Amino acid sequence: MRIECKATDDLTNDDHAALRVLSAAVYPPRVTAASPGLQFAWAPQQSHILVRDDAGQIVSHVGVLTRTVLLDGVPVRIGGVGGVKTHPDARGWGCASAAMARAAAFFADEARVPFAFLVTLDRRLFYERLNWRLFGGVVNVEQPGGTIHFTANEPMVYSVRRTAPAAGALDLQGLPWLSANEVGYAVYRHESCVPVHVGSSHSAVHYRRRNTWHGALHRGADNNTSHSWFRAAR
Ligand SMILES: CC(C)(COP(=O)(O)OP(=O)(O)OC[C@H]1O[C@@H](n2cnc3c(N)ncnc32)[C@H](O)[C@@H]1OP(=O)(O)O)[C@@H](O)C(=O)NCCC(=O)NCCS
Repeated sequence: MRIECKATDDLTNDDHAALRVLSAAVYPPRVTAASPGLQFAWAPQQSHILVRDDAGQIVSHVGVLTRTVLLDGVPVRIGGVGGVKTHPDARGWGCASAAMARAAAFFADEARVPFAFLVTLDRRLFYERLNWRLFGGVVNVEQPGGTIHFTANEPMVYSVRRTAPAAGALDLQGLPWLSANEVGYAVYRHESCVPVHVGSSHSAVHYRRRNTWHGALHRGADNNTSHSWFRAAR
């Protein structure tokens, strides 16, 4: 098993292709179509922990990002985890756990953040084994229609350089990030658009251009693409 951390801009075409294959294996169309995550717009990751098998194939992925959020009204730059997935044929080998440990090192030594945050639909026990804890506070996030109180997934925090808060008011100051990447493989596109309607992974998306909005291209497991447009994280 070989683990590396790459910024999104440093991913090669081969990496992108391998991640699409991994995403399709983890999220076949029947899973993606039923995903409750489709109703939300999600932030893409900024760096990627890639776990390769002995043949060099990417078998597991953990995406990481940093974001300045508001905790009880006070700005603080924190870490985030998204797109945690292991190929079904490589599960139980410790790949995701190893990638999460590498993510923790990234948060401590490179990002140097006090704590990290994720939301999960049904993998709370997996993250608890890795010392993530439930966040009992209120989470606000931005969506194309405005700021919402986010309750659809379980929020969890991880202590990095400081003890993570167990409660409080956390405003993510932008789109949320999902520990799974249920809407497929997202590629950050530096284009400037504002959403009029954000559709599901496979439906049409109508948008109009404006300077402060960015978009994500979602590639579904069947390789169809669609776009979501959102305002850049502050
Ligand atoms: C969850 C997932 C990433 C784990 O990947 P993995 O590489 O097999 O994980 P590891 O081998 O490091 O760890 C597996 C351990 O986690 C445990 N685990 C896996 N899924 C779990 C779950 N839903 N609840 C509790 N424990 C879980 C396994 O029992 C195993 O424990 P063991 O080592 O004591 O047997 C993988 O199952 C996956 O890709 N699932 C689909 C996508 C997904 O759900 N991603 C997470 C989104 S929140």
